[in-house]
Amino acid sequence: MTATVLASAPASGVRLLTISRPERRNALDRSTYALLGASLAEADRDASVAAIVLTGAGNCFTSGNDIADFRTDDTQDAEAPTEPAAAVSSPGLSFLRDLVGVSKPVIAAVEGFAVGIGTTLLLHCDLAYAGQGARFRLPFVRLGLCPEGSSTYLLPLLAGQKLASELLLIGDEFPARVAAQAGIVNAVTEDGQSLETAIEKAARIAALSPEAVLATKKLLRRGYATAISETLEEEARHFHALRRSEAAQQAFRAFLSR
Ligand code: COA
Repeated sequence: MTATVLASAPASGVRLLTISRPERRNALDRSTYALLGASLAEADRDASVAAIVLTGAGNCFTSGNDIADFRTDDTQDAEAPTEPAAAVSSPGLSFLRDLVGVSKPVIAAVEGFAVGIGTTLLLHCDLAYAGQGARFRLPFVRLGLCPEGSSTYLLPLLAGQKLASELLLIGDEFPARVAAQAGIVNAVTEDGQSLETAIEKAARIAALSPEAVLATKKLLRRGYATAISETLEEEARHFHALRRSEAAQQAFRAFLSR
């Protein structure tokens, strides 16, 4: 089986994780979520790693959750809860919990598309850079879903209520410039330069005192940690109930049968 997450060491103390399913625009299926979560946890444990860079192969960050895995006719879906009150588990939610739990800095480099969780995961990265042609989209409501990844908490905090509502409720594609304005990315680079920028920032972090870096990341997040976790779980309950609705299933069928 081809590995869909590639790990490498582009600089001393830096672990680069590349999502690699280019034929599906790096859509995150069950095994890719699991591999990405495990790769993050492994890098976090590895004493030789000081910072983690996350990117996508083939000039695309990720097209988000693999829509085929959202279908209820999928046999692995038989146990999914149908009520928003029920506790849920899913590969995407497990991955998000893993990402939120990483103690070392995570730096994202975005080229091409960042859709759905491809955008919301950036809210949990410590730094993020995007090539100027990068395109972002939060299409949850259009698909009959609600936002995930604690984005209903973090995006209003970063972007302000009005911009967050526009991006999450209407779900139009937006360019890197707007992603920077919304606080989703730190800066916009020339096309193709986001990875170099992310690696350079990671290498600079790797040259600092690891204890000072870890303490600072922890302190930066301390005030928000409870709200982030609570929102993540609350959104997931609604998301997984909505995912089974006829409106959502119809939207998934429409995409898959284009
Ligand atoms: N899940 C499953 N398959 C996906 C996918 C996804 N999220 N995104 C892309 N693919 C598949 C396409 O079905 C297509 O498969 P095919 O070659 O068998 O037809 C292949 O990947 C290439 O995608 P395509 O749409 O032709 O590429 P594009 O460059 O024209 O467009 C996107 C790229 C990302 C804009 C477009 O694929 C898209 O909108 N994807 C869905 C994004 C989405 O809604 N994600 C879920 C968020 S909750």
